[in-house]
Amino acid sequence: MPVEEKLPYCSDDQSKPFRLASSTSYDKSETRYWRDYLKLQCHPVSDELVGHWPAEPTSFRPRLAEFSEAAHELAQTLLSLVAEGLGLRADFFAGDLSGGETQMNVNYYPPCPDPSLTLGLLPHCDRHLLTVLSQGDVAGLQARYNGRWLLVRPVPGAFVINFGHQMEIVTNGALASVEHRAITNSAVARMSVATLIMPKMECHIGPAPEMVDEVTNPAKFREFVFSEFMEAYNTAAASREDVLDSFRIHRD
Ligand code: OGA
Ligand code: NI
Repeated sequence: MPVEEKLPYCSDDQSKPFRLASSTSYDKSETRYWRDYLKLQCHPVSDELVGHWPAEPTSFRPRLAEFSEAAHELAQTLLSLVAEGLGLRADFFAGDLSGGETQMNVNYYPPCPDPSLTLGLLPHCDRHLLTVLSQGDVAGLQARYNGRWLLVRPVPGAFVINFGHQMEIVTNGALASVEHRAITNSAVARMSVATLIMPKMECHIGPAPEMVDEVTNPAKFREFVFSEFMEAYNTAAASREDVLDSFRIHRD
């Protein structure tokens, strides 16, 4: 869309249901990241919500609504399979744990003249429960594994599924949240679409009793309300350990 039509949506106000911004709001330092993004609320789809989305191009609202419903359905299917795999009831993650206002990051990383100087997105763990990510066909996502950054190669037509902090906490560490980042390249632009499955803000979260054993596997995290976690995440600038530290139960 032409710049004049996009300009009214530019905002760093995180309470807006549809906005366009650059870099990231997590890093409080002077560092800027090579990224433009749309941040939008995409589920549950209601007339009021759709009214916040741009009316142009005309295909945008119906396509987004369709994608949002489908991504949500996929996420719910995966969550019930994950629950089953852990020996929990199939609807364990349904309800408040995954029923929050789903957000979407549409990330755009333009070609960068010198990729050694910056990142597209800083190292972070996703703060919610589950991420359904489409990374198109340009590589750029890296995950930290044994202290090294591994490239997550795009698989045509496939989504990358990432566990967020809440998955790690609810499963008492059994399914860890993976730290990841996006790098840039000097040749082509890259676009990714991340659908973020969120708990409700007032949802009480803590290790599931089924995942805890007082003797062999005591609770690693305390209980909290999700809104509290969101605040801590913003203060800790997305650093994995800093965020988790305020919710960890320390034993000696
Ligand atoms: C995100 C994210 C990775 C990517 O939006 O949280 O990690 O490949 N995106 O753009
Ligand atoms: Ni992420």
